Amino acid sequence: KRVAILISGGGSNMVRLIEDMAGDHPARPVLVASNNPAAGGLNRATEAGIPTAAVDHRNFPKDRAGFEAALLRPLLEAEPDILCLAGFMRILTPDFVQRFAGRMLNIHPSLLPKYPGLNTHARAIAAGDAEAGCTVHEVTPELDAGPMLGQARVPILPGDDAATLAARVLVQEHRLYPAVLRRFAAGDRTPVIL
Ligand code: GRF
Repeated sequence: KRVAILISGGGSNMVRLIEDMAGDHPARPVLVASNNPAAGGLNRATEAGIPTAAVDHRNFPKDRAGFEAALLRPLLEAEPDILCLAGFMRILTPDFVQRFAGRMLNIHPSLLPKYPGLNTHARAIAAGDAEAGCTVHEVTPELDAGPMLGQARVPILPGDDAATLAARVLVQEHRLYPAVLRRFAAGDRTPVIL
């Protein structure tokens, strides 16, 4: 299976996915693309020998469709079977999502359906939750709401702030996403529960 990974920043999840695919795996990375030409993950992808593409969303102010049309060019050229959003911080239109229906994954740093959207860790702490975590789900037109493909939990500890909790969750993201992609690429949609 051919996998394209979309990032916006450092790409630590992307790195773990690429590392896992380097071994015996039903999928291989064919492109890393970003909405941010300065995304550190682009350099890490290049170091790993993966082709990259950057389409700066700031070149398309108030023109989400225009940005996505530009992003689709390198994306479709790579002919991916699966799209993995990994720290990708742009909301995609239903039209874009439908193009990859059933084969686009995202990792979200909360125990969905709790806390879709942003600032998930601060919200969990403010709510007095005992646990937090991350979820990999299929991307559907509704934000952070598609069928769950994996979940990992961490405790929220006394004295935690958003940064300390985010760091604890990120460790689990790096375990969860590769496990989910491996299973998904083999055609198995049974959720991975770590
Ligand atoms: C992290 O906050 C992670 O929780 C979320 O996206 C952010 C950046 O991830 N998935 P990455 O290091 O770019 O993969």
